[in-house]
Formats: sequence, C-alpha cells, structure tokens
Amino acid sequence: MDKIVIQGGRRLAGTVAASGAKNAALPILVSSLLTGAQCTFHDVPDLVDVRTITRLLADLGSHIERNGTSLSISTPVIEKQEASYDLVKTMRASILVLGPLVARTGRARVSLPGGCAIGARPVNLHLKALQDLGAEIDLRDGYVEAVTKGLKGTDIYFDTSTVTGTENIMMAAVLARGTTVLKNAAREPEVENLAAVLNGMGAKIRGAGTDEIVIQGVQSLDSVEERIIPDRVEVGTYMIAAAITGGEIIIENCEPTHLEALTAKLREAGVAIEPCVGGITVSGVNGVSSADITTLPYPGFPTDLQAQMMALMTVGNGISVIRETVFENRFMHVNELMRMGADIAIDGNRAIVRGVRQLQGAPVMATDLRASASLVLAGLVAEGTTELDRVYHIDRGYERIEEKLSGLGADIRRVRE
Ligand code: EPZ
Repeated sequence: MDKIVIQGGRRLAGTVAASGAKNAALPILVSSLLTGAQCTFHDVPDLVDVRTITRLLADLGSHIERNGTSLSISTPVIEKQEASYDLVKTMRASILVLGPLVARTGRARVSLPGGCAIGARPVNLHLKALQDLGAEIDLRDGYVEAVTKGLKGTDIYFDTSTVTGTENIMMAAVLARGTTVLKNAAREPEVENLAAVLNGMGAKIRGAGTDEIVIQGVQSLDSVEERIIPDRVEVGTYMIAAAITGGEIIIENCEPTHLEALTAKLREAGVAIEPCVGGITVSGVNGVSSADITTLPYPGFPTDLQAQMMALMTVGNGISVIRETVFENRFMHVNELMRMGADIAIDGNRAIVRGVRQLQGAPVMATDLRASASLVLAGLVAEGTTELDRVYHIDRGYERIEEKLSGLGADIRRVRE
C-alpha cells in the first residue's frame, strides 16, 4: 500500500487547478445507461471511484473511451441488469445504476451497499421512491431486486435530503409515463449538473438546484455532450491548505458560488478570499482564528469539508465547536489528529477543538476519503514528518494530490510500498 510522506512547515504559494467533480461525474457517467446513443463528457477526473464506475458500466454493456479528460460512453444494448456485491462493496455510489436500469429495461438486481466508515448510510429512501414510481422491490440475499412493467410519474417526498437518492430517482423518472415531482430534493450543484446532462439528452426537468424538481417523462433519450462542474470539495480542501500553512495561492477552474458556506466560515476565521481572473485567491498570511461549524445539506456547510475544517481549527486561535449533523460517525479523523497533538473533545455529534500552537508530525492512518485529506492538511503545518498510510482512501476522491500540493511548494511525496 502506498504512503504519503510530508515534511511540514512550508507556506503554500502559486497556482493550482481543480479537477472535475467526483460526485458529479459518478451519476453523470451512470446516466448514459438511459440512452443507446453516444454520450461525451468533458473534465472527467481520473480517480479510483471513476474507474470503478466505468468498470461497472462496461460490465453492464457500455462501450467507454477516455481521451484525456474527456470520456465517451455508449450503451446500445444493456447486456446485464446486475451490479454485483464485489463491485458495489468497493463503492456505494454503484447504487446509482438502480434507477436507470429499471427505467430503461424494466428490471435490476443491485447489491445493497453495506455501511461504511462514516455511517450506516441506508438506501431506504431510494427504494421507497422507486416503489412510489411503480417498481416492485424485493430484498433477497443482500440484493435489491426491482421489476416494473413501466414506471409511472407521481409526487415523491424525501424524508431527508439525499443526494444520490435524488439523483437515482431523477434518472428513473425521466422515462416514466407522466410527471414526477420530487419534494425535499437535494439542492447540491452536482444534482443540477446531472439535470443539465439529462435535459441535454432530451429529458424535461425543471427546478434542479431547488428542493422541488419537476420531471416530465419522455419516450426515449438521445446523445449529449456536457462538461463536469469543478470539484467544490477539492477546491475547498486547497483553500484550507492555503489557510493552514499561512500561504497565498490561486485556485483555477473553480465555481465560487458553490463554496459560499466555506468561504463565509474561512473569512470569519480571518482568511482572505477574493475572486480573480479564472478563479479565486486565498491567503492565510494573517493567521487563523477559531469559528464554529455545523454541517448541513447544501447550501449549508458541506459535511465533505468538515474533517478538513477541523484540521484547520486544531491550529486556530481559540475554541471551535464542530457539529456533524449529516452522518452519524464522521469523526474518524479525530483520534489521528490527536496523535499529532491536537486538543479535541468529542461530545456526541459535537467536537470541541481547542487551537494549539503547533502540531507534531506522526505516522497516521487514513480511514475514509475526507479524513485522509484532513490528515494531509495537518501534516502540511505539523513540525517534522507525517506519514499517511492507506493512501488508497485519498486516491478515491483527489486527483494527483501530492503533485498538486508539491506544485504549490509543499514538501510531500508518495512512497510506493
Ligand atoms: C453523497 O452521498 C456524496 N456522495 C457524499 O460524498 C456526501 O457526503 C453526501 O452526499 C452528503 O452530502 C456522492 O455524491 C457519490 P445522502 P449520499 O444520501 O448520497 C441518510 C464524499 O466524501 N439517508 O445525501 O450517500 C444518510 O444516512 C462522499 O465524496 C438515509 O437515511 O448521501 C445520511 O445520514 C461521502 N436513507 C443522509 O441521509 C437513504 O435512503 C445524507 O445522505 C439515503 C440517505
């Protein structure tokens, strides 16, 4: 297993460009199952999770060609309607094939994703909504078996805001008979990006990006060419990297309006953030004071940046209370940060973080994607050497992170084990 080794203490400087968003690319690549025509997507990041989903799509009958950061996919015939456990267990987002397979072929057999490090993460809302659309759902041998003679549009209310639940059902509804209204829908930019792709194929979707999405079913869909939006979680991670090292960087290929909650919090903590040609400049040269965080569905503070913000608060000037309201176990980074000298107390879903003068480098272990990003950020500012093990976690969601950070002057390298 590869390791990442960091010598802390360097202030970051220079320019870095964000890649396309992992959490937009995954549902968008899956949406190509809905049509037999060719789909072309640009700015598709080269990540482990993207390779996993392309393997799954190829298994179902898709023909996929990558040309740099563009990907062409066509699925003239769906050869198989099953997503096996060995694929789904490596990436929960595989559940996204359920809606499109049922919509296009009338049936699907998809392994139930198990829990994961950050929580139980059930898919009950996906299944209930698919039933509402007229699919018969059976749970057997750890698989979801769905079958329908034809989906029928209806009103669907999501008990909680679910990103992939909204995406799964939006993709199922585009070929349903009649109109579907999704209420309490997720408002994430990735949902909007998916809706733009589906409308490009000929779907009729209104309201994506709000909590009410109206989908008028159509008979069939056609080809599409669309761009993946910049990865707001990757951009946020680099913004925090500039802040934690007291550096000043420019981040290109980013959409500032997708990061308003983080920007507001970083400004509150004394970080200077300004729009510039092609992106934003972020400067932590004036030091960082503490701020309180509560994670919420978009447009609230993103849970995917909670661990990274906590790393920053460990060296903030004061006390920060961080509340995680989206997932029930997303503090796996706390113990590892404490091994680096952080002062954190957990009280239920709240972490009380007392800023310390200096973190100490240490050998640490990644447990999940965003926890590993948090440990990299801590390593950038810690005194001495930090060795991050189980780097495969970070490769799931960050394209060439050690290259991008060393391009900003960090002393960071990957050691192939
Ligand atoms: C998406 O996961 C993202 N993944 C996650 O990013 C992100 O953390 C999460 O949304 C929240 O923003 C992708 O888009 C591929 P949810 P998702 O359904 O859709 C509960 C990363 O690091 N829930 O919005 O799985 C659930 O348990 C990853 O890039 C149900 O109870 O998240 C959670 O508490 C991690 N039943 C809450 O809703 C359901 O059927 C939000 O989950 C579905 C969800």
